[in-house]
Amino acid sequence: MADELRPWGVEALGICWGEPRGWDEGGSRIVPHEDGTRLVLTHDEREAPYALRPDGREDTGLLVSLSDEDALATCAWARVTPDSQVVGLGIDLADPRDFAGARGERFNRLLFTQAEQGLVPALAPGDEALGYAYAFSAKEAAFKACAAPLRRWYEAHDEELVFDLRGFELADLRHEAGTARDGAAQAALDALGIRAIELFRTEVQGCACTVAWARA
Ligand SMILES: CC(C)(COP(=O)(O)OP(=O)(O)OC[C@H]1O[C@@H](n2cnc3c(N)ncnc32)[C@H](O)[C@@H]1OP(=O)(O)O)[C@@H](O)C(=O)NCCC(=O)NCCS
Repeated sequence: MADELRPWGVEALGICWGEPRGWDEGGSRIVPHEDGTRLVLTHDEREAPYALRPDGREDTGLLVSLSDEDALATCAWARVTPDSQVVGLGIDLADPRDFAGARGERFNRLLFTQAEQGLVPALAPGDEALGYAYAFSAKEAAFKACAAPLRRWYEAHDEELVFDLRGFELADLRHEAGTARDGAAQAALDALGIRAIELFRTEVQGCACTVAWARA
């Protein structure tokens, strides 16, 4: 994945996971980093995490995202150049058990379009619940990947930009696009200058895990 993203200005990236760790009273959270250093995070008004530099200001060259599922916590990070085309990163974990059985089936029919339902078998051949878990984690990861561009938007605009994760639709196996269902997500992507949201899938301890990156 790292080599694929290098031409777009991603110098390094990684996913780490472990025990969930809470936020301290000062609003910071420390995530162990693979290279032995630590990521110091805080979050913005919309609860989206971002990385801090040693001087306490936002490290705009480090994109981060978090997801928790029961006893498992994941963090995705990417070190990007100032002119990187990758402007946002999102990660999400989903437990396939939440997408199985009669309750899961009802939820899946309500949340996913016919086109998305048609893509599910290819997401996890022979395991429908895992396929839906991947489809759901793609929506959440895509939503989270908009957080950094949205923070930049609010630094420069007074106008509100409202969209939610139901507005993201799996366009094909690799892309999440703003859906035409209500248009709000697509309008927000256009305003934020996000041309595409691309996806990487992996299984982490039985959970579907999607990493999404937003490309300008
Ligand atoms: C953000 C959201 C996708 C999180 O998903 P979830 O399945 O509940 O939880 P996860 O464990 O996967 O992720 C939680 C982490 O997401 C991050 N997060 C929360 N809000 C976020 C946001 N707006 N953008 C990016 N990341 C966010 C946080 O780091 C959080 O972890 P923390 O509580 O330890 O800080 C979910 O809460 C949601 O859909 N919110 C809707 C908000 C919305 O529609 N707002 C519209 C305004 S534009």
